[in-house]
Amino acid sequence: MDVVPTPASPVLSRRIAKSLNLQLASVTCKKFPDGEIYVRVESDEAEHVIVCSINKNDDLVTLLLMLDSLVGDCYVVIPYMGYARQDKAFLKGEAISIRAIAKLIESYTKEIYTVNIHSQEAASFFKNLKEIDAMPEIGKKFVDEDIIMISPDEGSIKRVKVAAKFANCDWDYLEKRRIDSTTVEITPKNLEVANRDIVIVDDIISTGGTIIQAAKMLRKLGARNINAACVHGVFAAYSVVSLFSSGISEIIATDTVESIFSKISVSELISKELANLIR
Ligand code: R5P
Repeated sequence: MDVVPTPASPVLSRRIAKSLNLQLASVTCKKFPDGEIYVRVESDEAEHVIVCSINKNDDLVTLLLMLDSLVGDCYVVIPYMGYARQDKAFLKGEAISIRAIAKLIESYTKEIYTVNIHSQEAASFFKNLKEIDAMPEIGKKFVDEDIIMISPDEGSIKRVKVAAKFANCDWDYLEKRRIDSTTVEITPKNLEVANRDIVIVDDIISTGGTIIQAAKMLRKLGARNINAACVHGVFAAYSVVSLFSSGISEIIATDTVESIFSKISVSELISKELANLIR
């Protein structure tokens, strides 16, 4: 077995290979002038683990080309499963994007691993998806710090609860309350945040809009130092400058999407799961 690295997850691929004591396959990736992608994988192994987050559309094409090029059994690790937020047709006629992605990838392999997929609805489109939870690792990063972990909405409560348990800290979530037809008040549900240090925890930071809205509210309520932590630091264009401008002091993400904010690695969590495959 070897680990096949991809342009979307080169550092994480290396870390997983090192941890499992496996070789990295030799990979050539190129882009033609018209934007088409070329892939070549040189490997004589009978089994492969491809590590490829799907953050950009090119990542998906690269993954498909790699799956096509490889002979033998492939296990696919998709640390960040993009397209998972479109897990239903919100409007008539919309594609259920994650269903299409699931069908496509599962036509090559039945064994897929991911980290904190956005929703259980999204996960339900896969026949055999193993989901790994990085929230304990986020919690450990802040262990015994005098902080409150805040979920920016009700959707992330479950995740924040796990992180807070591992950090051994209090947690709360922001609740939207409609005051009248034009006013919505967003406040922490239970805890006082004045003069407290806060870590806003979410699964994904993309545009940063969710965190920015939460940070502004918490600042108004007198919160002291506000940090943002997430599993998947997607950081769409201009999001980082907007996050810092909104008063966020530090941004902490894992390496499911590799960036300078990848201060927590999920490599050991993934390696632990993959270790069962090594005979
Ligand atoms: C929403 O359901 C997710 O949990 C995140 O809160 C959301 O995807 C973050 O996106 P953005 O950074 O664009 O607000």
